[in-house]
Amino acid sequence: MISLRHLTKTYGRGDAAVTVLDSIDFDVPTGQIAAVVGPSGAGKSTLAQCINLLERPTAGSVVVNGEDLSGLPEKRLRDARRRIGTVFQSSSLLGRRTAAENIALPLDFLGVTPREADARVGELLERVGLADKAGHYPFQLSGGQAQRVGIARALALRPSILLADEATSGLDPETTRSVVGLIRQLRDDLDLTVVFITHEMDTVRLAADTVARLDHGRIVEQGSLVDLLTAHESPLGRSLQPRRGHAGPEAGTRTWFVTYDSTAVPGDWIQRVTTDLGVAVHLLGASVETVHGVNTGSATLGVGTDDDTRVAAALARCGLSGTPDAVPITRHDDAERVLAGVLEDVA
Ligand SMILES: Nc1ncnc2c1ncn2[C@@H]1O[C@H](COP(=O)(O)OP(=O)(O)OP(=O)(O)O)[C@@H](O)[C@H]1O
Ligand SMILES: [Mg+2]
Repeated sequence: MISLRHLTKTYGRGDAAVTVLDSIDFDVPTGQIAAVVGPSGAGKSTLAQCINLLERPTAGSVVVNGEDLSGLPEKRLRDARRRIGTVFQSSSLLGRRTAAENIALPLDFLGVTPREADARVGELLERVGLADKAGHYPFQLSGGQAQRVGIARALALRPSILLADEATSGLDPETTRSVVGLIRQLRDDLDLTVVFITHEMDTVRLAADTVARLDHGRIVEQGSLVDLLTAHESPLGRSLQPRRGHAGPEAGTRTWFVTYDSTAVPGDWIQRVTTDLGVAVHLLGASVETVHGVNTGSATLGVGTDDDTRVAAALARCGLSGTPDAVPITRHDDAERVLAGVLEDVA
């Protein structure tokens, strides 16, 4: 469990002082993955560095599993830091050390015996699926494998907290998926509390239980991922929506742009709306994903009636809301590609 109270970080003094974190209150319950998003320079990395106490907060407290780390003397702080593992962007492995030696680094610092270290490294390599890569140097690893080594190293001292700062940036979507899958698996197995910093909204949907948006050193919005995905009035909620192109209208129909308003939209809603209205309903395009078992996204429909009130009511009965005469987002020739990706399970 992480609790930040009035956490403030100011760099520089006097006229040159810049407040990068401004009285942040933030909680991550044990076993949860909290994504932190926000523009470049918002203070995300500084937040991570204050949680693992690489940076001392200027004011406020960092409480990890009930202990206030911000007031600890240096020696106790070193012990406390062991409870917090950090993964950075992929470039952080030492190039002259093998995967196994990179993972062993924190153990070496602690003076763990070589035999104990070997056993622990073997166990960690196994856990991240790289048992056969122990002797490989970073340049011999793919981006995803290097990140798995980084994760294994972060876990070497059995921390209860994992901080991931842009841990999947620069990885292709498939590799991102597998690294995020590993982090979620480790969270489940080890009951880790995870702060997942990223600027990629697609990754947030894969990874997070909760999302906080940081802007100019303040948390300006936060909530559970599932709640945010149906909160269309929220800028954070809208930015989290899956986005792929939607097709154009068909002749003789009215075009509706429909968004998922409820966490309980039935999977066969098009059929239900069709039956309800007794007219043809064509799916022109959709960006729908299943996130933690909940469908979310939007769709463009061609509906064979101009009775907008009836259409709106039929949609509402399925937990959807819609706007008639919506302007489709993309050209008609994108239709096939879009329809091919209509339902994609990311959970
Ligand atoms: N050691 C430092 N001294 C002075 N200013 C700093 C220091 N570290 C960070 N800053 C400033 O703090 C602000 C926040 O930086 P931070 O690295 O936390 O942003 P970020 O949200 O992680 O951005 P990005 O998405 O680009 O990684 C920036 O304006 C940066 O210039
Ligand atoms: Mg950063």
